[in-house]
Amino acid sequence: MPLTHLGNLPIKDFLRDYWQQKPLLIRNAFPDFESPLDGDELAGLALEEAVESRLVLEKGSSPWELRTGPFDEETFAQLPESHWTLLVQAVDQWVPEVQELLQCFRFLPDWRLDDIMVSYAADQGSVGPHFDYYDVFLLQGSGKRRWRLGQECDSQSPRIEGTPLNILQDFDATEDWVLEPGDMLYIPPGWAHWGTAEGDDCITYSIGFRAPSQAEVVTDVAQEIASQLTNDQRYRDPDPAPASNPGAIPPAAIERLREMVLEHLTEENLAQWFGHYMTEPKYPDLEPETPEETIDWREPGGTLYRHPASRFAYYHREGKPSLLFVDGEHFECAPALAERLCERLEVESGALLAVADEEGLALIDELVAEGKLWVVGLDDVGR
Ligand code: SIN
Ligand code: CO
Repeated sequence: MPLTHLGNLPIKDFLRDYWQQKPLLIRNAFPDFESPLDGDELAGLALEEAVESRLVLEKGSSPWELRTGPFDEETFAQLPESHWTLLVQAVDQWVPEVQELLQCFRFLPDWRLDDIMVSYAADQGSVGPHFDYYDVFLLQGSGKRRWRLGQECDSQSPRIEGTPLNILQDFDATEDWVLEPGDMLYIPPGWAHWGTAEGDDCITYSIGFRAPSQAEVVTDVAQEIASQLTNDQRYRDPDPAPASNPGAIPPAAIERLREMVLEHLTEENLAQWFGHYMTEPKYPDLEPETPEETIDWREPGGTLYRHPASRFAYYHREGKPSLLFVDGEHFECAPALAERLCERLEVESGALLAVADEEGLALIDELVAEGKLWVVGLDDVGR
C-alpha cells in the first residue's frame, strides 16, 4: 500500500511543502525496517552480466576511482578494508522484496520512477559530495550512514576534474545527520549531498525519480513527430511579394515557421510521445521473455502480475478510447480497462473480465503472450 504519511507528516503536506522544493529527514519512516538484502547478496547481483553495477574506491588507483561491473569474486576479495562503495541499479527488477518497497512510493506516478539503486559500503565508503537531477528518497537499510546536506547546485557548479564522478569542488554542509535502519532522507534535484558509511555493512536504498531535461523533451518529441511526416510536407512562403532586400528574413516567415511547428504540438501527439517515452523500459535489451506456456488468465481466481521491468501508464482522451502505454508502445482500450491494468502491480482476472470487451480481451491476451503480464492460477499459489 502507498504510504499515507512520512513519519507524522501526511503525504499531501509532504507533496505540497517539500516535494521538488526542499529536503526532509524522516526518522523512523519505516519502523523496524529490515533490509531485504545483505552485502553478500548485493555483491552476488553485481556478478551478473545483466545487472548494472559500479564500485567507487575513494583511494583507488586514482582518487575516486570508478569501476563498472559485472565484477568477479576476485575483485571483491581484493577490496581494501574501508572507503569503498558498491552500487547496484534497478534492484527492484531483480529482487521481489525490493520491488515490494515500491508499493510504498506509489503516491507518486509510476512513470516518474527510475529505479531502486542499492548501495553497500565498507566503513567510510562514499561516492563523494555531489548532486543529482533526481528526486531521491535515501532509505537506510542496515548499518549507519552519515548524510551531510549542502548547497543548491546547477550545471555550472565546479566539479573536481579527472574523475568520472561528478564530485563537487565545494561543499557547504548545512545539515549533518546519522541515519539508522528505517530512517529516510528526501532530497530534491540539485541539492548537494554527501553520504559516508559509519562502520561496515552500510546498506542504503535510493528510490530515484527521474524527470526528462527540456533538451531531451524537445529532441525526442521532434524526432517522434518527424517520423510521421512525409517529405512532401514543407515550408511555404507567407507572401509572394518581391524581396526588398534578398538577405532579409521577414517576421512573417518566422511566424509561418512557428505555426508549422505548433501545428504538430497537439495534445494527442504530446500525450502519445510522453506515454511512449516515460514507459520505455530502463534496459530495453532485457525485454521480458515470452512465456513458453501459460495458464489461461480467464480462469476464475487467477491473478495477473506485471513483469517487474515493465512500465504501464494510461491517458484518457475526450470521446475516444484511452491510450494504454506499455514499455514504450501504445494500445487503444476502454478507460476502465486501462485503469484496472495500471492501478495495482497485480490484478485479479475477474476484475479485468468485468471491464474488458472483445478487443480488451485480445489486448490482455497479447500482453500475457509477450510476458508483460504473468498469470498465476489458484493452484500455483496453493490455496
Ligand atoms: C549511496 O547510496 O552511496 C549514494 C546515493 C546517492 O548519493 O545518491
Ligand atoms: Co546522490
